[in-house]
Amino acid sequence: MDELNPNRPIWLADDGLAVRVIDQRKLPHELEILDLTTVDRVIQAIVEMVVRGAPLIGVTGAYGVMLAAAAAGGRAELEKEAGRIKAARPTAVNLAWAVDRTLAAALECGRQPDRVAAARQEAGRIAAGEAENCRRIGSHGARLIQEASRRKEGKTVNILTHCNAGWLACVEWGTATAPIYVAHGRGLKVHVWVDETRPLNQGARLTAWELGRRGVPHTVIADNAGGHLMQHGLVDMVIVGTDRTTAAGDVANKIGTYLKALAARDNDVPFYVALPSSTFDWRISDGLRQIPIEERDPDEVRYVRGLAGESTRQVLVPPAQSPAANPAFDVTPARLVTGLITERGICRATAADIARLFPDKAGAAA
Ligand code: MRU
Repeated sequence: MDELNPNRPIWLADDGLAVRVIDQRKLPHELEILDLTTVDRVIQAIVEMVVRGAPLIGVTGAYGVMLAAAAAGGRAELEKEAGRIKAARPTAVNLAWAVDRTLAAALECGRQPDRVAAARQEAGRIAAGEAENCRRIGSHGARLIQEASRRKEGKTVNILTHCNAGWLACVEWGTATAPIYVAHGRGLKVHVWVDETRPLNQGARLTAWELGRRGVPHTVIADNAGGHLMQHGLVDMVIVGTDRTTAAGDVANKIGTYLKALAARDNDVPFYVALPSSTFDWRISDGLRQIPIEERDPDEVRYVRGLAGESTRQVLVPPAQSPAANPAFDVTPARLVTGLITERGICRATAADIARLFPDKAGAAA
């Protein structure tokens, strides 16, 4: 049986009205839990990346609707607050999806206490659903690792991943990490190349921390090392997550993902993207033109945070006067994607094959 990942980055406090999250800005050197008790705090946590990763942003936004319902006077105010939460980060489509779903559930009730209870229940359902989706992604994706292991006669399968698409970014299991956790749990030999993922180092800080806690062999590499490793046969497959994938299979993910896909194609390394259905944007099919790419504060590029002695410190890297730019995501065209690993199975990154797996969802394009 697959080993269950008990780790969750979000849960409710006992009173049911405080949303508890791991402060991901502090990891890996400090493990701090924050209580989010107001809509403003939820929005701030999403914007400042206390919580991050597409499915987790969605679940946090859903609980934000619960807090909005607890504070809001009427329907119009609740809708306005939901709109503010949705605007906190633009690229991950899970945020709008989860907020809209929770808002609709709340608005089915006329009385305020019922709205709060309905929102709490719906947010809980979304969280449980995402955990289950990730568990299934793990089972489907592990088959790919199993096949690679068989081809290599049991030798270590080397997997490269970018950013953090682990349980910290989701609810449990993760997306890109789920197949790795399942394969590792089954005793297959795996090793993960962890892209550091500048500017905020989600790979070096978060993925390395997660994998280390689970005993999965891994090595942190500079973002630019992947192509070299692929040229030398040291990468058997790439698995990444995504923040928004079109109905035709174009994939938006953390900046730098596209370059890994190019290097993978040039070296015949399979490039997989793992995602729950909440990350598909069924209304669009042209990722380059239609996916909004978040531009973040250039100071995230200019400064680096890390452990200095006993405490963490932030240091400036380039000359103080040099301007910096910080596009947070890029789009990998579907033609560079070998396959999409979803909760319903694995498909090719084409409109037809995605629609074959999701006939109930596809076809919504305007
Ligand atoms: O800016 P972030 O850290 O929120 O970006 C996260 C990513 O790009 C992840 O790879 C993506 O959300 C998939 S998470 C399962």
